[in-house]
Amino acid sequence: MIFTGSHILSVEQFDRADIERIFQVADAMAPYALRRRVTRVLEGAILGNMFFEPSTRTRISFGCAFNLLGGEVRETTGFESSAITKGESLYDTARVLSGFSDVICMRHPQEGSVAEFAEASRVPVLNGGDGANEHPSQALLDLYTIRKELVSKDRGIDGLRIALIGDLKYGRTVHSLCKLLRLFNNIHVTLVSPVELAMPEHIVEEMREAGHKVVITEDLPQSISSVDIAYSTRIQEERFATKEEADLYRGRFRLNQAIYTQYCEPNTVIMHPLPRDSRAGANELDNDLNQNPNLAIFRQADNGVLVRMALFALVLDVVDQVDKCSRDV
Ligand code: CP
Repeated sequence: MIFTGSHILSVEQFDRADIERIFQVADAMAPYALRRRVTRVLEGAILGNMFFEPSTRTRISFGCAFNLLGGEVRETTGFESSAITKGESLYDTARVLSGFSDVICMRHPQEGSVAEFAEASRVPVLNGGDGANEHPSQALLDLYTIRKELVSKDRGIDGLRIALIGDLKYGRTVHSLCKLLRLFNNIHVTLVSPVELAMPEHIVEEMREAGHKVVITEDLPQSISSVDIAYSTRIQEERFATKEEADLYRGRFRLNQAIYTQYCEPNTVIMHPLPRDSRAGANELDNDLNQNPNLAIFRQADNGVLVRMALFALVLDVVDQVDKCSRDV
């Protein structure tokens, strides 16, 4: 794809060469993310960071990524601080805010809303999560993390064995990740969820049609016994009609150190897009895994800054300028 000026709305926009390009640029961002060098390549540029659903990682890491490239960030958080609560349309909001910004990141609870917003925007829009649909930057940072974790074990993404565990119906990160994995070869995916929270059928079918092996199960010990990656997700309470309905599924598939030791191969990498639900009765990923060196969840979050810097640099066409506008710290 041509990155310059493009919206990033779905991982379906990418082919393998695009992913390699994003990862190559992300690798080059490390000195800046690690504060070893400073670049002012986006000096004078403004990111409109619009998050209409709660977010810690995506909102802050998009903002930090833009700051690390020298740009400034203007934020809108929650509908209550936006004129959308006065009845303003997404079209009008997009027309106005895209006049104030060079690029916009947006999270919204409705599927398709970010694409609708992007249609009216005069600047590139990056999808920070639209309802249960997609979370492209998360899937990219997940795949980037998988690649990095496997490289240290002399493995690549082709031939990956991965278990996706938890709320696979409403978890947008696993939807986007499956779609990205489809581009690789000989992937073995085990989908572990309550039947009611299964991965959407079309995503499963597309994986199988692309020649990958997909196993659907409710057996957690069996599913994690021979995988490279165990990727856990929380129950997406905000997508359920009531908290009580979400409670029916919370805590159903818990991974902790004892289960890890008993069932996983020694080097199995543990991932989670975060936030993990630490409340009593949930704990899909127990705190007793925190000292496990294969727990990659915080490396995963750190990688988000690199990948989001890469997306900004590509979409705003400044990749070749980043080093030229830089200095040592
Ligand atoms: N992974 C993720 O999207 O986290 P936030 O909801 O905190 O942005």
